[in-house]
Amino acid sequence: MFPVTYRRDEQNRIFIGGAAVKDLAESYGTPLYVLDYATMLQRIRQFQSALDEMAPQGRAFYAGKAFLSKAMAGFLNENHWGLDVVSGGELYTAIQAGFDMGNIVFHGNVKTAEEIETALCHHVGYVVADSLDELSLLNETARKLDVRAPVLLRLTPGIEAHTHAFIRTGQFDSKFGFAMQDGIHDEAVSVALSLPYLQLKGFHAHIGSQIFDEDPFIHNAQRLMEFMAELWEQRGFWPEVLDIGGGFGVQYTPTDDPPDITRVLLEVNQRVQAMTPRGCHSPEILIEPGRAIVAEAGITVYQVHATKVVPGGRHYVAVDGGMGDNIRPALYQAAYTAQVDGKPLERLNAYTVAGRYCESGDILISQASLAPVEVGDYLVVFGTGAYNYAMSSNYNRVPRPAVVLVSEGQQRVWVKRETYQDLLAQDLPWHGLA
Ligand code: LLP
Repeated sequence: MFPVTYRRDEQNRIFIGGAAVKDLAESYGTPLYVLDYATMLQRIRQFQSALDEMAPQGRAFYAGKAFLSKAMAGFLNENHWGLDVVSGGELYTAIQAGFDMGNIVFHGNVKTAEEIETALCHHVGYVVADSLDELSLLNETARKLDVRAPVLLRLTPGIEAHTHAFIRTGQFDSKFGFAMQDGIHDEAVSVALSLPYLQLKGFHAHIGSQIFDEDPFIHNAQRLMEFMAELWEQRGFWPEVLDIGGGFGVQYTPTDDPPDITRVLLEVNQRVQAMTPRGCHSPEILIEPGRAIVAEAGITVYQVHATKVVPGGRHYVAVDGGMGDNIRPALYQAAYTAQVDGKPLERLNAYTVAGRYCESGDILISQASLAPVEVGDYLVVFGTGAYNYAMSSNYNRVPRPAVVLVSEGQQRVWVKRETYQDLLAQDLPWHGLA
């Protein structure tokens, strides 16, 4: 829930990465996204050592949709991690960051011809194909470029993960991928194998996000391995890659209980080894954690601008950000933990933390336990490193906050705060129609 470098001093001042939250707020303004380097590094190392120990033929690709910037891509590259991208924009970010493009997996249920061409020209590691239409577009684009596209097929294994409906993807009725039902997946394999400019490298299935149970991950791998064994028997085709996606849950509130990654990888690897046919190489296991790397590394610092008690007794605290910088509470009823900087963690009161946007639904935390809050206080919301900046908007024409990386007292701006000029950068004035 908290960054690993989180601490409070005797005056209850909150520090992250050796920096006082108040100093950060005063230097960079609020709202402010702060990312803790030590936490990101720790998460990457945890996954890496679990892979090295439990599934040595495995590789990790960070899911850029959770949070991506040029600096983030550089950080991953430096740590020899791969990157999962889902759009031309994410691809472009990686290219501009000088990312090792062979270490990229390109996802998405819609990829334009231009995006596919860029991906193939830059020799991305794998393109994960989502539909028959995409397979033919991929083949056509690869033919024009005279390359063979390395392809994974995205499958939906019919596994229900217990998470919010909006972030569940493994069920048969999904907009993503080929259902492993009614021969749909078989047909996709036939098409992929028949197209001359495609190289079918393997299979992918991501079953959802913010999953706490270990079993769905293990069942997913098992289901894919069963299918692969069938393919081997029926067609003599054996793939090189098994990509089980991301979705590893994190702690936003004390009751959240994240899965044991080591156990997941151990059991996945056991299935993979046991189910690989004699004479075949066991496939390389790919994982794509996004949230688990960045969520708990991030905090958002807001300033309190108003407080009020309404009839019935609800106590509102209004801050200078909200759904523009964190849409997750409004979209998924996501829960967060917050603290007031410079105030003790005793005698807490119940507050509703409201954002500044013109929507009644712009409530960041409906039930927050906070020290008595006053105007001017800095409110720290924890666990905002994933899917906050990445999903931010300029609703109400509010500029996006800056993203600052902190480490042992050093600070680096990763993304500058947007200005009003930035907001108008694409706007053209009214010149009439005549
Ligand atoms: N791989 C694929 C193919 C995915 O679709 C996703 C997430 C991931 C990996 C990374 O999942 P993670 O490890 O971050 O859970 N906006 C939602 C989450 C949407 C996730 C979409 N796909 C949220 O804020 O909770």
